[in-house]
Amino acid sequence: MSENQTSAKSRREFLTNAGRTAGASALAGIALPHVHAAENNTIQIALVGCGGRGTGAAVNALSVQGGPTKLVAMADVVPKKLNDSYDKLKSKFAAQIDVPPERRFLGFDAYRQAMDSMKAGDVVILGTPPAFRWVQFSYAIEKGIHCFMEKPVTVDGPTTRRMLKLGELSVRKNLKVGVGLMVRHCRARQELLNRIRAGQIGDIVAMRAYRMGQGGGTAGPRPEGVSELTYQIQRFHAFLWASGGVFSDYYIHQIDECSWMKGAWPVAAHAVGGRHYRGGSLDQNFDTYSVQYEFPDGTRLFFDGRNMAGCRDEFASYAHGSKGSAVISTLSHTPGMTRIYKGQKMPRVNSRKDLPLPADPDLTWAFPQPEKSPYDWEWDDLLEAIRQDKPYNEVQRGAEASLVASMGRMAAHTGQIVTFDQMLNCPHEFAPGVDKLTMDGPAPITLGADGKYPVPEPGIKKDREY
Ligand SMILES: NC(=O)c1ccc[n+]([C@@H]2O[C@H](COP(=O)([O-])OP(=O)(O)OC[C@H]3O[C@@H](n4cnc5c(N)ncnc54)[C@H](O)[C@@H]3O)[C@@H](O)[C@H]2O)c1
Repeated sequence: MSENQTSAKSRREFLTNAGRTAGASALAGIALPHVHAAENNTIQIALVGCGGRGTGAAVNALSVQGGPTKLVAMADVVPKKLNDSYDKLKSKFAAQIDVPPERRFLGFDAYRQAMDSMKAGDVVILGTPPAFRWVQFSYAIEKGIHCFMEKPVTVDGPTTRRMLKLGELSVRKNLKVGVGLMVRHCRARQELLNRIRAGQIGDIVAMRAYRMGQGGGTAGPRPEGVSELTYQIQRFHAFLWASGGVFSDYYIHQIDECSWMKGAWPVAAHAVGGRHYRGGSLDQNFDTYSVQYEFPDGTRLFFDGRNMAGCRDEFASYAHGSKGSAVISTLSHTPGMTRIYKGQKMPRVNSRKDLPLPADPDLTWAFPQPEKSPYDWEWDDLLEAIRQDKPYNEVQRGAEASLVASMGRMAAHTGQIVTFDQMLNCPHEFAPGVDKLTMDGPAPITLGADGKYPVPEPGIKKDREY
């Protein structure tokens, strides 16, 4: 089957699978090998990409109750990142950290060495920039290692097609794979979804989502003594090849949670955006984005993203229905403080200073507070699936969410309407040789003669983003 045929088939599957529990349907009828936790019931974990989120995910993993867990290997390309992460984890979980110097690996091959020191049925955390996801996930599949990988899992059309195939392979090998769209594991959002499905706000007629903050994704000039590649990796939000930019890396959550509540992936995106003032930053991002996502039934999701200091911040998602409205996220990912209102009016929550919300006669339901963090729930769920050998594979929906984020980004960057199929079939791969990068080799993107990296030019470059 050609990649295009696969894409058309995948697209149909995406639209029908969007609201389902990941993995279960895809597993029907396939004989599965049994890949589970070690005989002594200890789940061994490796951390690849020891930065903020990778270390955070290790904290979440090692905190799970219900069976022993142990960190046994670590990998990064920057020694300080690995050392700081090790010190932090060791200080918190001394008895669960078994990572002697010979199992701390550095360099672009470090992920292989870390996984070589494990056995089938162990778990690897992929907390590196998204560009490396398919490369490192491929090796985890080869080794039969379960995986938790951070979002986005792809940054463009070609890597999404590749990830979908890898996802199918990992399902066939009965690997349990979690993708860091943790909101899907939030019990408050799950209850809201059930209530929406039960018709408590009627038919969804519009959705709104915002991720507006104080900047981000910038990159000053490369410091002396730092290689071009290391510079780009350390500022991965600034470079589309490394992360899909702030659009993919930050906004994927809001776009995913709204699509989940709607029960479908958008089929097209129409967007505006621009670079107003980025100072001397050399990054490839716009500082404002406004996207209309269109669902199969014509309903729109209006998404606004802004990375600009001094403006009103917002980090929230809403669904408006024919009989009421719902708050999916209030001020960040956690606590969600999901709730339902009788009509379309809801109080404006500007900051945590506005909490707790005053009594409101229009409020018909709210998830009880306090809530457990979805960053913990996603690990409870993954480790339970491994221990109980339950079907658990989030790759397809993680790749779909990543593609839908890329679709909105490309619509803004090109000034065109971009459909799901166009994004899936888009031939522009941002970093074709990402699996062959070496520490002292060239970086996937270079400065132009003007001393700048290429930035999107809507209406001028129409079929590629730079
Ligand atoms: N789910 C969430 O809410 C959430 C929150 C933050 C970050 N993230 C995701 O986590 C990932 C990492 O983000 P972060 O904020 O931790 O970044 P970070 O820069 O703090 O960490 C990334 C780490 O990966 C290392 N690294 C880079 N390339 C590598 C390679 N090829 N091999 C091994 N190590 C490599 C870096 O040196 C760094 O230590 C991103 O995909 C991001 O989107 C998710």
